[in-house]
Amino acid sequence: MASLIHYMPAKVYFGDNSIEVLGEEARRLGTKALFVATNKARVARKTGYYDKIMESLKASGLSVYEYVDVEHDPPIDNIMHAVELFKDKGIDVIIAFGGGSALDAGKAIAVGLSLGDVRKYLFPNMVEEEVIPIIAIPTTCGTGSEVTRYSILTDKEVNKKVALTGYPIIPRVAIVDPLTLKTLPGNLTAWTGFDALSHALEAYLSKKSNPIVEPIALEAAKIVVDNIVESYKGSMDAKRKLHLASTMAGIAINTAGTTMIHGLGYYLTTHHGVHHGLANAVYMPFALKYNLENLSNSKVSRLLKAFNTETIEDFLSIICRVLDSTGIPSSLLELGLSQGELDLMVKNALDYRRNMENNPVEVSEESLRTVILNAFKGRSSICKA
Ligand SMILES: [Fe+2]
Repeated sequence: MASLIHYMPAKVYFGDNSIEVLGEEARRLGTKALFVATNKARVARKTGYYDKIMESLKASGLSVYEYVDVEHDPPIDNIMHAVELFKDKGIDVIIAFGGGSALDAGKAIAVGLSLGDVRKYLFPNMVEEEVIPIIAIPTTCGTGSEVTRYSILTDKEVNKKVALTGYPIIPRVAIVDPLTLKTLPGNLTAWTGFDALSHALEAYLSKKSNPIVEPIALEAAKIVVDNIVESYKGSMDAKRKLHLASTMAGIAINTAGTTMIHGLGYYLTTHHGVHHGLANAVYMPFALKYNLENLSNSKVSRLLKAFNTETIEDFLSIICRVLDSTGIPSSLLELGLSQGELDLMVKNALDYRRNMENNPVEVSEESLRTVILNAFKGRSSICKA
């Protein structure tokens, strides 16, 4: 039996104006495209990318349909609404433009158009059949969805995050054009950047990590830490580096998955509407402390060495410093949570078995309670000033 699987079929274009390849790449996949975005494609229109995309597709001879009503943290009903609208149109390729919600919706719509009701394919079931190919154009620097086999949706009936997973939903082409980040506000740049950082660190530490993705994850983590503060302040140079790091972190989670930080953060999004990246950012140092202090392998020392530190405490201080410098609330209390929800938070996190089983250190009700209570106390309880 193989001890390692690494499958990364996405062709990644990176660089300013790499959007120009869109028409040519889409044409290889067919003649009828479905453009998918959130908010009536407001960001695409504001940045001029909407016109660039339409011109590029039409110049290459494609006809284009649009679904620009993707909701944030897309509910399954929202996906199936799109599937109803376009199931008889003979769509050959899906162009998903936006943050994680738009990209994940693009993948889910591909599953719906190709296979029917997406509910039948939710994890622990897998998408194994081929689906309509996807071209993903990320406009935030966090999701990594442009290169992953995951589509994270919301099941409104039970108020939980659910996932479609499977190699067929990895986009065929990822166009990572840093100029799409030009108008991304500082807070969203930081929040999505911390999503990328949690992908990188979680993938590095994950039980499913392997020698191929480990160095990619570690390098991505370093790039994010080195550039997130300047990106937050608006530096285009720093944003360029962050955008590539986000795709690298996506390549890492595609193999290694995410762990405790994501498993804890989902509750904040489903129950309090907290942005996914912000939710991860708030929990990050507390979950890292738990994992690093309880891990006894050489991974910890390699991580510390990569960040030029000698102790876990010093490493956590580096993480706390970038969180402090980018306006991330220091505690769950500051985020508006109440300790009265503690039991529900623990139970909810344990239910994300896909994340918790992948955590490098065993997760129990007790350990989650400790991590969450620390997160209520705030960063000053675990980080040096
Ligand atoms: Fe994430």
